[in-house]
Amino acid sequence: MSEQQSQPSERNTNGTSSNGGSNNGHHNGSNGKGEQPSSQASSPPINPFAPRYAQIVGWGYHVPEKVITNFDLEKIVDTQDEWIRSRTGIEQRHVAASPSETSATLGIQAAKAALEVADIHPSKVDLIICATSSPEHIFPSTASIIQDGLGANNAGAFDLSAACSGFVYALSMARGHILAGDAEYVLVIGAETLSRIVDWTDRATCVLFGDGAGAVLVAASDVPGGITASVLGSDGSGADLLTVPAGGSAMPSSLETVSSGGHYIKMDGTAVFRFATRVMADATRQVLGKAGLGIEDVDLVIPHQANIRIIQNSVLKQLKIPEEKVFVNLQKYGNTSTASIPIALCEAIEAGKIHPGNNLVFVGFGAGLTWAACTIKWSVPVAKPDETWWRNTARQATYQAAAARSMWKRAIRRVYSQFPGESRWGGRKEENELG
Ligand code: UT7
Repeated sequence: MSEQQSQPSERNTNGTSSNGGSNNGHHNGSNGKGEQPSSQASSPPINPFAPRYAQIVGWGYHVPEKVITNFDLEKIVDTQDEWIRSRTGIEQRHVAASPSETSATLGIQAAKAALEVADIHPSKVDLIICATSSPEHIFPSTASIIQDGLGANNAGAFDLSAACSGFVYALSMARGHILAGDAEYVLVIGAETLSRIVDWTDRATCVLFGDGAGAVLVAASDVPGGITASVLGSDGSGADLLTVPAGGSAMPSSLETVSSGGHYIKMDGTAVFRFATRVMADATRQVLGKAGLGIEDVDLVIPHQANIRIIQNSVLKQLKIPEEKVFVNLQKYGNTSTASIPIALCEAIEAGKIHPGNNLVFVGFGAGLTWAACTIKWSVPVAKPDETWWRNTARQATYQAAAARSMWKRAIRRVYSQFPGESRWGGRKEENELG
């Protein structure tokens, strides 16, 4: 199942044009102060001495079709729908049932949706950061596989490992790159297939997690707002509380690690619960302080969607933020780790909960132990545009061309691998051939 939101105008603010289709070159929205993000076709390039801001200009998500309800779980482990709903708030989760669905393929779909909303061609992207707790491999990075799938040929790509806090960590990295002037467009993705590392015989964990991906495109802008502050934290003394013990260098995969289930998620749920409840409230207070905002200035909190009781005990009770200002969708997806906040962001936009000028807080926690929060002054319009058939066709053609180019490169490498000599290992001759 794919969900996409569309956006009427390009939000490229660096004065260059995108290849995404016809654009009026004008930004429709306001940041609540009557200021308009600059149009890309008609505006001059950003003044290098002017302040830069990191705005979220595209968003999208993708979850697998297959849904597993609490009642389905009752048939495979000793659990009850009533227990899961009352202890966690979760009613169902999406699971990547097909082997062809991986963290990268889910991430690619989410990223395509985000680029579509922003109407930005993949070649404009400077950097792809994929936060994931269930990467495709130890290496190469899932981000590199996503980069290839998008045909984002001008982008650097890396994975970010901070467990469920990873998406907010990655937003903070994206902001840093943009404010430093190193990037104009950064794709930030949270992508997970946690069902592949969950022990489906362990009722304490298998009921909690789900699969999915969410993505945002962060763009350099001269419009004040966007990602305004972030707080990142870590306490490695709690590393053993939530971990996949085997498969890394500390405990390489072996017959023994596989037979003892060492490659599955292990968690001390109660300890993580206590930590999460404290840290969600503390991180929110800290980041609001950094942004110069009070609790009363917050329009919407999008917390990591792990457990409704954690959200109630921290955001609602400790911070006294009213329920209507806290977005929750964990009943539909379970805990999708790095994907939970961007999926919730997309659904909050769909639900009409986000408007230009709003102050948002994203706050998460996870293995590490880690925590992270950021504030966002939302500054772009969220209205749905009319999708034109030719824009859609152009997009499809772009991705088909990217797939063909990737296949061509692989084929050329295979051919060169048949010949001895320098070019076999990626020397000058092959590089020239690959372009
Ligand atoms: O992104 C970060 C990911 N991690 C988290 O967010 C986890 C945070 N922790 C939690 O959300 C909660 O601690 C859990 C939902 C994992 C557990 O809830 P709890 O209220 O802390 O339950 P508990 O672990 O104290 O267990 C209470 C009872 C135990 O039985 P006994 O010992 O009282 O007889 C468990 O064995 O519930 C039992 N139990 C279950 N019963 C039915 C544990 N899991 C299940 C289950 N179905 N799935």
